[in-house]
Amino acid sequence: MYVNLKDMCRQAKEGHYAIGHFNINNLEWTQAILQAAEESRSPVILSSSEGAGKYMGGFPVVAAMVKALIETMNITVPVALHLDHGTYDGCLKCIRAGFSSIMFDGSKYDIEENKQKTSILVNAAHINGLSIEAEVGAIGGEEDGVIGMGECADPSQCAEIAELGVDILAAGIGNIHGKYPANWAGLQFDVLEKVQKATGGIPLVLHGGTGIPDDQIKKAISLGVSKINVNTDCQLAFADATRKYIEAGKDLEGKGFDPRKLLAPGKAAIVELVKQKMELFGSAGKA
Ligand code: 13P
Repeated sequence: MYVNLKDMCRQAKEGHYAIGHFNINNLEWTQAILQAAEESRSPVILSSSEGAGKYMGGFPVVAAMVKALIETMNITVPVALHLDHGTYDGCLKCIRAGFSSIMFDGSKYDIEENKQKTSILVNAAHINGLSIEAEVGAIGGEEDGVIGMGECADPSQCAEIAELGVDILAAGIGNIHGKYPANWAGLQFDVLEKVQKATGGIPLVLHGGTGIPDDQIKKAISLGVSKINVNTDCQLAFADATRKYIEAGKDLEGKGFDPRKLLAPGKAAIVELVKQKMELFGSAGKA
């Protein structure tokens, strides 16, 4: 079932669980995440960054692939296709390409420009039936070449952006993309509480889901996080399983070099990892 993320995230917030957002890179990634969602009876958000969209041949290819797989794999759980950290132009392209959701990352602009651009995109998204996520305060780490410092968002700015009618809000609370450094201070729950209070209960997004300890994930959900973004974890699981296959010399046995065999362990590793995340986030069994 191809849907936007508004209802699934509202229901998650009411039910005190979170929906996993998993970045996709190719056909195998997409199949693996859809399979995990169906087997876990969990709603799911598939997401493409602008870089991954380009890699896959453009946003129209991504949208066509996801919609066709939902049909051919008989996927019955709710699936949203979301643009991750979109530019203004990228958001417009995804609306035209048939995505069901966009994220406008205006965190690099000053608050007035972020508001102005977000506001136009809220209208464009909603007229076309898409949901929209906005961001306040850059999320640290590197995401398609954008580097931040693990900032914390200003709760009053979060309120200003939430008032524009966005469906879900990403606010920096000390989280960063990629692996966390050994001296990471952890999530700033006081900031999360202030953001949630200032924004009148809008569902919140936790970026940088890789490497956050389980107890912090659960606490974040209890404080209003309804969408958790995971990317690096799937990449690590895929690379690890693929390395083991090659190090065991399996690509040299018989037709082990066939890409359908070579990519199978990595794909299976993503299925397992995504299922574990769905259990941890509490979304398993909710569809
Ligand atoms: P990780 O790569 O740290 O899991 O973060 C993913 C993310 O936040 C995508 O927007």
